[in-house]
Amino acid sequence: MSLQGPETAKLFDRAMGAMVNGVSSGWRYWGRDDTIVLARGEGSHVYDADGKRYIDYHMGFGPVILGHGDPHVTEAVARAAAEGITFAFTQEREVVAAEKIKEAVPWIERLRFTNTGTEATMHAARLARGFSGRDVLVKFEGQYHGAHDYVMYSAPGMDTEMMGSPYRPIPIPMSSGMPGVINDLIITLPYNDLEAVRRTFRNDGHRIAAILVEPMMGNSMGIMPKEGFLQGLRSVCDEYGTVLIFDEVKTGFRIATGGAAEVFGVVPDVATFAKALGNGVPVAAIAGRGEVLEGWAKGGITQAGTYSGNAISAAAATATVEQLLTGEPMARLQKIGTALMDGVRGIMAEAGVAGAVMGHPSMFGIYFGDEPPTDLRGTATHNEDLYEATMMGMIRRGVLPSPDAHEPWFLSAAHDEDDVAQTLQAFGDSLDEALG
Ligand SMILES: Cc1ncc(COP(=O)(O)O)c(C=O)c1O
Repeated sequence: MSLQGPETAKLFDRAMGAMVNGVSSGWRYWGRDDTIVLARGEGSHVYDADGKRYIDYHMGFGPVILGHGDPHVTEAVARAAAEGITFAFTQEREVVAAEKIKEAVPWIERLRFTNTGTEATMHAARLARGFSGRDVLVKFEGQYHGAHDYVMYSAPGMDTEMMGSPYRPIPIPMSSGMPGVINDLIITLPYNDLEAVRRTFRNDGHRIAAILVEPMMGNSMGIMPKEGFLQGLRSVCDEYGTVLIFDEVKTGFRIATGGAAEVFGVVPDVATFAKALGNGVPVAAIAGRGEVLEGWAKGGITQAGTYSGNAISAAAATATVEQLLTGEPMARLQKIGTALMDGVRGIMAEAGVAGAVMGHPSMFGIYFGDEPPTDLRGTATHNEDLYEATMMGMIRRGVLPSPDAHEPWFLSAAHDEDDVAQTLQAFGDSLDEALG
């Protein structure tokens, strides 16, 4: 049965005629009959062209932290748009937004704005390379840092059998078109394996510019860091003069107002923020502390962008962070997300499905299997067929998580108790149906 009603199918026909596969990002194409085309969103809900309502757990893959169409953000953006958006000069709204971010994330000394998570990690990597005079990046299997060539290796959902031994993993490029000559500039390692990190640094530490890490696995089932893992990365970086970059594109302004540094108590040298910073409006920041930022201050390391710090992005960031700083959105997320995680666990137990609900109440993943994973390789034991069948059942019932278990469920402060009750009902019914 197609996910598209008649009006949605018509709109998708038009989309196919004008855009390649009818989408602007490859992951959105779910096939001819099942690609979802939306007309609008409101709070925790989105609506397709036939008026079908979904309870949304995509939330744009993480950005929408306050809810779709949040009135404060909408008003701030409209006002900014009316007064001119792009000047390519420092502007007042940008200064206010930068100060707000510093207030919310107190370890940040200074930052620069950019527009997307991809640009943020690209600039952070260049800054680390320019500062350290080294070329190699360490990243972890199953983590995603955006769509630029330097980081698209051994990404979530890729076949782990190709990745070689966990003692010396083979970095697997995610796409044709990535130049093979840059393969030597990346070392991929299993997440949560501090011994592998230490061993790598004993051999290659003098070549490693940065460790780039999502503090929790925001692109692989919400796997959390083991006790001491992030602290261990911090001390290895200190020992070898390597820059520690937290990629907080998903966790920033989501798992806490102060992001992963607040939750896990480890402070990086540089962090990249995007997504929840603007509640869905494109805005990103590369933030840091200490002497690393001197790379930009003194010149010689390029960071640029026509739209960086534009008025709409800055206004959205200020309005979003201001609301987060009240503490209310995070308190709601914690309460609603915990109820949903506990409810899913209960239904799985009742149905006799082994597994785990992993992550944080604002973004969590569900694993079906006997051994909850601590890294990407461990996700190979996940019962993907059962999970996908369950999620597709939910989508037909008007609840919209990703059918791919690697992508967490994202909540917003607009989700409420009714959403949780309807979601749990749909989860239970869909799981029963999938189990046959
Ligand atoms: C952790 C992380 N970093 C970077 C990115 C890239 O962000 P963008 O899609 O805004 O370029 C993503 C996107 O999902 C991400 O999850």
